[in-house]
Order: sequence, then structure tokens, then C-alpha cells
Amino acid sequence: MNIKIALLGGDGIGPEIVAEAVKVLDRVAAKFFHRIEYHPAPVGAAAIDATGDPYPETTHKVCCEADAVLFGAIGDPRYDNDPAAKVRPEQGLLRMRKALGLYANLRPVSLFDALIDRSPLRADVVRGTDFVCVRELTGGIYFGRPQGRDEGGRRAFDTCTYTVEEIERVLHTAFRLAMRRRRHLTVVDKANVLETSRLWRETAQRVAGGYPDVTVDYMFVDNAAMQIVRCPTQFDVIVTENMFGDILTDEASVISGSLGMLPSASLGDHAALFEPIHGSYPQAAGKNIANPMATILSAAMLLEHLGLNGEGRAVRVSVNRALVEGIVTEDLAAPGARCYGTSDVGDYVAAHI
Ligand code: IPM
Ligand code: MG
Repeated sequence: MNIKIALLGGDGIGPEIVAEAVKVLDRVAAKFFHRIEYHPAPVGAAAIDATGDPYPETTHKVCCEADAVLFGAIGDPRYDNDPAAKVRPEQGLLRMRKALGLYANLRPVSLFDALIDRSPLRADVVRGTDFVCVRELTGGIYFGRPQGRDEGGRRAFDTCTYTVEEIERVLHTAFRLAMRRRRHLTVVDKANVLETSRLWRETAQRVAGGYPDVTVDYMFVDNAAMQIVRCPTQFDVIVTENMFGDILTDEASVISGSLGMLPSASLGDHAALFEPIHGSYPQAAGKNIANPMATILSAAMLLEHLGLNGEGRAVRVSVNRALVEGIVTEDLAAPGARCYGTSDVGDYVAAHI
């Protein structure tokens, strides 16, 4: 198969971790007789430096023409403490999601057995965790208008909006996913307070009629935050709005042992995009210490999305082997055990495909 991948390293550790995923993909291509073409393009602070725009039109074109996008991370401390910055790297990520119509962000939360003691939660709590959070990605408070300031800058406002159509399409993604899994969907909202949440719940109740085989339950987001760490095995598929999904998945990542383990797939109208759920970890940039596993596992999701299930599986098996053998970065190393570099981990996973 000929595969065209848009390669968007982005900021901080982004380029390093994407490079490790490319190593692994190259090895997959060689072993399974595929041809992978990579098309690098700038995004985030790197793109602001080069062009003044965090998501340049040329980058959008590269994404649209690709079969899939492999993305690293966005964010740069130069902008974080400058509330007056006119343009921010994160705007690039949000515009990219919007422009590519990536409304459904699938974030699987599971645990490799080898890491069971790395989780800050008790082994008996996390053992067997296997759920997917479907996060709505192009609506809600991230995009609602108006947003801004008034009263001479002394009052600020963001607006959360959702249309029935926006809710329905992501619900269908979640229901279809639940049908292929354990047929249990949890709709997470704050319907006791927010009008948008009441529209979510009402829409979910209607859409559920089309999926009689799926058991649906509804949970308020504060309770969900607690249930995810109290008893994560109770979940199969969670579906929720943009910001709730952002927060709950960072929380859920502790189950897997490290924020550096969780991959994601964003699906929508055009090419799908694959990215680790973590950020750009600027303190680690260039030090060869960041964990590349979340990006490597995102590459596995990319392969599976293209129907290459055996190839995706080969990547997962190799990742598992690295974890079992203790070929891990400092975030995962057992106390006193040796830590490996970003590139050592990528080399090992690639070599064992
Ligand atoms: C994520 C990140 C982004 C988000 C940031 C970098 C804008 O936290 O992908 O989860 O909030 O969506
Ligand atoms: Mg986040």
C-alpha cells in the first residue's frame, strides 16, 4: 500500500517523539511491503517563528492531501506567561482541528500489564482498565463566541455553545464504537447546571433509540472524575464535550502509568489526525528524555485506521516487549532502574517489529 503521511512535529518535544514514531513506521513499511511518503509541515510556535501564522495555509494543504496526519505537540513557554500575546501556538492546533473537521477525538485508556506498578493508583484498582473516551473536539467553550473582555479589560467571558448536529455526529461515532466493543456508553455532562449539557442529554436519549443493543448511562462530570480513579474498569466508552474530555483524559492517563503513554485519533471530514494526548513538555525538549510511546501508539492507531490491523498489532506487541524488558524513559523507570533515552526506546521498538 502507498501511504501519504503529513508530518507535523510542532513544538517542544514534538519533533523528537514524531521522529521515533517515523522510525517505527519505516520498519513496518519495510517488513510489510508498504511505501510510506512523509510530508513535513510547520505548526505551532515553530510556524509562528517561520511565517507568523501558527497554522499556515501551506500546512493545511499538506494535511488535506495526506491519507493521515501524524502530529507531535504544540505549546511554547514564550507565550504562556504573556496574556497579551496576539497570536498563540495553541490557536494553530484549534484551527487545524476546525479546518480539518476533526470533531471526534478518540482517546483509549488502557494499561500494559508491565506498567501496573507504575500507576500511582493501586494495582487492584487499575488492573483490567480498558475504555475509550470520545471527546468532542470542534465545539463547546473552546470555540464559542463571544469570547473576550469588556469593562476596560476587567471582565472576561467565554461562551459554551453546541448545536444538535454537532452533538449528534459525535454521539454516532461513540455509539458505533460501543457496538464494536462491550456495548456500554457513558454520556458525561453537567446537565444539572448547564443548558448545553441538557441539550447533550436530550440528544443522547433520542440517538440511543437507534442503538437498542447499547446500554447507556448518564453521569455528571464531577462524579465521572471521581469514578475514573475510583473504579476505572466500570467504563467501556465515554462520550463528552470538548473541555470535559480534555480534563478527564489527562486525569485518566495516570491509570496507564504516565501521561506519556496515551495516544489519540481525531476523526472527521478529511484526513484523520493522530497525536499523543500530552503537551509539548518544553523543559525536556532536545534532552532525549521524553517518552515517545504515546506517539508510537498513535502511529499504531494510524495504521489500524488505514485498515492495516496486523501492522498496528505488530507495533503494539513491540511496545509491550520494550515495557516488559524495561526499555523505558525516566517517567516509567522503576526506582533505581536504568532510564533509556527517547531514541533508545524508538530504536528498540522499531528493531523488534
Ligand atoms: C490536548 C491539549 C490541547 C487541548 C491544548 C494544547 C490546546 O491539552 O490536546 O488535550 O486543550 O485540546
Ligand atoms: Mg489536554
